[in-house]
Amino acid sequence: MASASARVFFALWPDGALRTALAELAREVAQEAHGRATTQENLHLTLAFLGDQSARQVRALKALAGAVASHRFQLALDEIGSFARTGIAWLGASAPQLALVSLQSRLALALREAGFSLDERPYAPHLTLARRAGAPVRRALARPILWNVNSFVLAASNLGRERPIYRVLAEWALDPG
Ligand code: 2AM
Repeated sequence: MASASARVFFALWPDGALRTALAELAREVAQEAHGRATTQENLHLTLAFLGDQSARQVRALKALAGAVASHRFQLALDEIGSFARTGIAWLGASAPQLALVSLQSRLALALREAGFSLDERPYAPHLTLARRAGAPVRRALARPILWNVNSFVLAASNLGRERPIYRVLAEWALDPG
């Protein structure tokens, strides 16, 4: 019997107060971009998108992620922009976020070594604030959003009729200090 598959991705998952602040920003940017705001519970920043994976592959992903060692870090997100092709308005960073890139590249290396295929394009960190954006947006935030990143997650995406619904399957703490 074929095992159930899931559409999965690794991501940073904002908690409590940060999630509330991001949801407020999402509503504001959705208006500017004439798009549809990401719902509060769906806000995240993707590290690696894997797509459909079998239950066995999901177990392999969980085992592999536990071995990716990385330290906690602070992300400074200070730029709003949009991708015209996909109609996405996002929150990103004007300066390279080295700790984020380091975590992402360690994870991507472990995934590729284990035989998982990833997008070949360079990693473009962004947090999707709105979809179906009809107007381009590009501006700096007066004050950066600071995110203390203490963990990362493996999440599953169910494509609902209205919007995707995301579910956290597992979470890994990053090393303190
Ligand atoms: P997006 O927000 O820019 O669409 C779940 O779909 C997450 O994985 C989203 O954050 C999405 O980014 C990201 N992702 C990356 N590559 C993807 C792809 N080829 N298909 C769908 N989602 C992708």
